[in-house]
Amino acid sequence: MTRFLQVATVMWSAFFASLVHAQTTAAALHQRATAAMCANCHGTDGRTVDGSAIPALVGMPKDYMLRQMQAFKDGSRPATVMHQIVKGLTDAQVQTIADYYAATKR
Ligand code: HEC
Repeated sequence: MTRFLQVATVMWSAFFASLVHAQTTAAALHQRATAAMCANCHGTDGRTVDGSAIPALVGMPKDYMLRQMQAFKDGSRPATVMHQIVKGLTDAQVQTIADYYAATKR
């Protein structure tokens, strides 16, 4: 009986560990997919090609990005496209995206 309980405990621990892992992976995937909305113009993972007129996002500090997104939204920073793009995003999406690029190494 003790042996059974030991085996059961180990199996349950493994099961819960895999659940936690799956959740972390799903959250990371969701974050990456949200940030990928910007890839058409800002490049994969926010890396633009050399000489691009569009600024890179990779490694951008979160507070800087949040301020720019807010400025595009309220019109205090003039833009050709970004004022339109930011209108389509929720605050939560902007937070998620800013977290992603700030955490991605250049
Ligand atoms: C259609 C192309 C396009 C897409 C898609 C796009 N951007 Fe931009 N982004 C630009 C351009 C062009 C600029 C320069 C400002 C302007 O003219 O709008 C810019 C500028 C920025 C800046 C200012 C950078 C700096 O150095 O100050 C930030 C921040 C930014 N974009 C974030 C994003 C995020 C986050 C997304 C995804 C949700 C995104 N952009 C999607 C084209 C785009």
